[in-house]
Amino acid sequence: MKRLKLPPRLFITGTGTGIGKTMMAAILMAGTRGLYWKPIQSGLDEMTDTEWIRDATGLPQHHFWPETYRLTQPLSPHAAARIDGIAIDLAAMTLPDPAPSGHLIVEGAGGIMVPLNDTAFMLDLIARLNLPTLVVASSQLGTINHTLLTLDQLKRHGIEITGVVLNGPQHDSNRHAIEYYGKTKVVAQIEPLAQVDVAALSRIFDANFTTGLPAA
Ligand SMILES: Nc1ncnc2c1ncn2[C@@H]1O[C@H](COP(=O)(O)OP(=O)(O)OP(=O)(O)O)[C@@H](O)[C@H]1O
Ligand SMILES: [Mg+2]
Repeated sequence: MKRLKLPPRLFITGTGTGIGKTMMAAILMAGTRGLYWKPIQSGLDEMTDTEWIRDATGLPQHHFWPETYRLTQPLSPHAAARIDGIAIDLAAMTLPDPAPSGHLIVEGAGGIMVPLNDTAFMLDLIARLNLPTLVVASSQLGTINHTLLTLDQLKRHGIEITGVVLNGPQHDSNRHAIEYYGKTKVVAQIEPLAQVDVAALSRIFDANFTTGLPAA
């Protein structure tokens, strides 16, 4: 498979929560040594997504931009914000400068139709940040419906789609269906990992992506 040349700035969304967005972000961070930003973190009791990627990649703190909203409850952002007495403001989430390597990886929360406040959805944040978007989806049964709905909604809002990443055991028929009906390329497949470490993350990066820069 041809490797995808990563755009310098990328938004990672998914078909839902727990689908592998943070895993995908860790793969891209291991490969680019860029800057990671999770603008809205819901739930602070478990490891945050930023902490998880820092742990998995071993990258130092300056590769991680602080979250704009750190909400205490592991709920949809609109509900978590309400409990914390906060109103999420899209204008407060401005893109950081993508130093040190030139690559910026932004991770959403949940999928594109999670509400952020009374009027805006994650989709509106993506459109406002104006970033090309990678869609992480399961490789397994049910994924065709979820993925096609997500792609359709992104297209309706004029958001540039970089591709779909399938997470889970290889499933060629789902992959073909998503490419054919969704008119979008599946740019990578992440197999189930027994151990998440820099070597595994870098191996998946190198098999599927390139920064466009000569290897160090
Ligand atoms: N390919 C994989 N191999 C092994 N474990 C995986 C894989 N993909 C995801 N996981 C695990 O599944 C869980 C959910 O994945 P992840 O945190 O990446 O989802 P997410 O889409 O970022 O969720 P959230 O909406 O909470 O941000 C994590 O514990 C993660 O380590
Ligand atoms: Mg995550």
